Amino acid sequence: MQSRVVPLEEGKDPGVSSRTNQTKALPIRLLQLFVFFLAFCITFSVISIYTIRHFGISNVMTTVTSSFQPCYEEPNGLDGWIKPPSNLMHTMNDKQLLWRASFMSRRTEYPFERVPKIALMFLTKGPLPLAPIWERFLKGHGGLYSIYVHSLPSFQPHLPPSSVFYGRHIPSQVAEWGRMSMCDAERRLLANALLDISNEWFILLSESCIPLYNFTVIYHYIMKSKYSYMGAFDDPGPFGRGRYNDNMAPEVNITQWRKGSQWFEVNRKLAITIVQDTTYYPKFKEFCRPACYVDEHYFPTMLTIQAGKLIANRSITWVDWSRGGPHPATFGRADITEEFMKRMLESHRCTYNNRNSSICFLFARKFAPSAMEPLLHLAPKFLGF
Ligand SMILES: *[C@@H]1O[C@H](CO)[C@@H](O)[C@H](O)[C@H]1NC(C)=O
Ligand SMILES: *[C@@H]1O[C@H](CO)[C@@H](O)[C@H](O)[C@H]1NC(C)=O
Ligand SMILES: *[C@@H]1O[C@H](CO)[C@@H](O)[C@H](O)[C@H]1NC(C)=O
Ligand SMILES: *[C@@H]1O[C@H](CO)[C@@H](O)[C@H](O)[C@H]1NC(C)=O
Repeated sequence: MQSRVVPLEEGKDPGVSSRTNQTKALPIRLLQLFVFFLAFCITFSVISIYTIRHFGISNVMTTVTSSFQPCYEEPNGLDGWIKPPSNLMHTMNDKQLLWRASFMSRRTEYPFERVPKIALMFLTKGPLPLAPIWERFLKGHGGLYSIYVHSLPSFQPHLPPSSVFYGRHIPSQVAEWGRMSMCDAERRLLANALLDISNEWFILLSESCIPLYNFTVIYHYIMKSKYSYMGAFDDPGPFGRGRYNDNMAPEVNITQWRKGSQWFEVNRKLAITIVQDTTYYPKFKEFCRPACYVDEHYFPTMLTIQAGKLIANRSITWVDWSRGGPHPATFGRADITEEFMKRMLESHRCTYNNRNSSICFLFARKFAPSAMEPLLHLAPKFLGF
């Protein structure tokens, strides 16, 4: 080895003639090399910071991923399966996305350390006026949740990089209440969230929702639950069974027909059941059109048939229907009082893991942007964050 190294050194450095010079020159060359390397690093950092500031981190991530693919993504390793996608703005269409998201491990043990996360999926039109409440709620719990936002495709979010919602928008399409496009949006949210293998629970929220307890309480309630939360009841009246269409048989018969609120909380198993469905989807798409509001029937009915024993048949999102009418009450600044908070949180009864419980709702809707300030003010006393 030695005999090969020496001539190489000499050949590289023909200018150095004597031994004494060589020993002096070496540290200087090393130093030069080091300075050059340092300058390169600093330049690179400056360029990176500039690019991130001006074009957003997601763009940088795409560039890095595409140019360094071979050494970053080990074709023979697990990384491609267990690392969450770095850029949520993928180019898959719904058909490709639902296919990709419906893969499931049949083993219950993971060959790596997996910290289960809750996926908070926001189905919105555009802005998130209650974001400061969510920011405070999530503070200090990084690594235990992930956020996904579906908004109108025309909406351009302007968020600071420090926001928990920054870079969390997914490719979206127009979703209309009561139509299949609404269920499509919910399936799109589920499918995107399923791409992160650490997501274990999937919570559907809107821009008017708030959490009712601190993160620790909500995380443990959900993680330890034996059942998924999907409102599902058999309503014999015109707005329940009255919306059933005989053409749905034999896949769905009238005794299996269910109704429920669209706001659900499901675990990974049921999230996959929802995204992989190709049996019930065409039936609902064709035969449940207004005045059959498909977002009130498709998931409750489909899950009752396929996994009835795994759902609690109730939602954990509180809404107030007491004011009557086709829409639940929306609360604004003037409504948010200490009495209101008590009414919302207390005197509920339900079963949790087959036991009586007084904690029945973990989230609530609907709140107007004007409710944000008084809610933030009362949150430490009533909501524990
Ligand atoms: C969360 O709320 C519970 C119940 O109110 C309380 O015991 C706990 O200390 C709170 N946790 C944090 C981190 O504030
Ligand atoms: C509906 O399906 C259930 C379960 O498969 C069955 O017991 C019941 O007889 C069916 N009802 C009708 C009206 O077909
Ligand atoms: C929910 O309802 C189904 C029937 O539709 C039932 O089989 C299941 O046990 C119910 N879930 C709970 C937690 O009671
Ligand atoms: C649960 O509550 C019901 C009334 O809502 C009561 O009849 C039952 O005994 C309670 N069960 C337990 C275990 O406390």
